[in-house]
Amino acid sequence: MSTIIVGTPVIAGLDKLFKIHGLSKKTVVLFDEHTRRLYGDKLLEMLRNEGFQFKELVIPAREASKSFSVAYRLYGSMIEADVDRSWNLLAVGGGVVGDLGGFIAASYFRGIPVIQLPTTLLAMTDSSIGGKVAINHPLGKNLIGFFHSPKLVLIDPSYLATLPKREIFAGMAEVVKYGFIADEPFFNFLDLHFADITSLKEPYITEAVKKSAFIKDVVVKKDFRETDGLRATLNFGHTFAHGLEKLAEYRHLRHGEAVTIGMVCALFLSHDLGYLDQNSLQRGLSLLLKFRFPKGLVKRRFLDIDSGLLLESMFSDKKKLDKKLRFVLLKKLGEAFLLEENVEDQQVMKAIGDGQAFFINSRIRH
Ligand SMILES: NC(=O)c1ccc[n+]([C@@H]2O[C@H](COP(=O)([O-])OP(=O)(O)OC[C@H]3O[C@@H](n4cnc5c(N)ncnc54)[C@H](O)[C@@H]3O)[C@@H](O)[C@H]2O)c1
Ligand SMILES: [Zn+2]
Repeated sequence: MSTIIVGTPVIAGLDKLFKIHGLSKKTVVLFDEHTRRLYGDKLLEMLRNEGFQFKELVIPAREASKSFSVAYRLYGSMIEADVDRSWNLLAVGGGVVGDLGGFIAASYFRGIPVIQLPTTLLAMTDSSIGGKVAINHPLGKNLIGFFHSPKLVLIDPSYLATLPKREIFAGMAEVVKYGFIADEPFFNFLDLHFADITSLKEPYITEAVKKSAFIKDVVVKKDFRETDGLRATLNFGHTFAHGLEKLAEYRHLRHGEAVTIGMVCALFLSHDLGYLDQNSLQRGLSLLLKFRFPKGLVKRRFLDIDSGLLLESMFSDKKKLDKKLRFVLLKKLGEAFLLEENVEDQQVMKAIGDGQAFFINSRIRH
């Protein structure tokens, strides 16, 4: 299982940290071109000063890098550099670098340790924790992968200073998700300090990151292989989101943007099916109203979409034999569950329609 450390600067004294955790000072450092440019020189210099032997690898900063062909190329560079089982891999970046780095570490020489150094809000609070690592297949996202827990997750919120605002809001969707599914006091904190957190004010941003990472870690430790429905609650809002992302060809919407919209629909569905009271619904919606999207995005990617078409898209990544959508619903703010029963198509379409009406009526810039 992983050790998660949150601090600034988190990489100070890396040699000691590696030693304590039984990691050698032979490290493949994986960046994407942005994290290489922003943080590479400093990090590699520090590794050099601390006596590390390292091999640097850089991938294009895009989702398409999570592919077999990119992995194959990186295996080649590692073999050429004589990287063997005594090495480990440090993934420096967002979820793309983390997922690809974890995938390579899980498979190279039958598995070497991976250390995650997440640099996006989404990676700090979600993708770097829990050991799910994957690449995409042309027929679907994240289909080829492993469970490979990182030895260390090193989280330093100061890296967020260079992250574009759009990525901050996208990551914030997952942060807010934890309040909804697991912790009402955290929900209240996020509601009260939303602007402080999204403008990266201390101590609010570090507190939000720490708490999110902690909640994800607890959930994952209790249900590592997603067997009893608990880990599945991390997918609150995601059934709708996956349909939206697919319609947006995985390009025009950030995952977190789709999740924000998906959580609006999931709140309505929780209420319509009689699980969530009116007051909690309103409180949940008012928090989601604080999110900002690029101009016109919600209109093009959600409001202009027919609810039947979205429903169809939500179904499309289901296996043929099990044509059933699974929804995570709220009983109250801070408590989620995986609904086992089938939900009528009409109910799902109503939740989509309510979500659309909500965005239209909110009259904020979308
Ligand atoms: N493994 C999991 O459990 C899990 C969970 C959620 C998401 N994911 C995966 O995560 C991926 C999305 O991750 P993401 O949202 O972090 O996207 P990303 O890795 O594409 O990063 C977003 C952008 O921010 C840039 N960036 C990263 N750090 C930066 C920094 N500090 N300053 C400036 N720019 C920076 C990146 O170069 C990229 O352009 C998806 O592939 C998704 O499938 C995995
Ligand atoms: Zn997500």
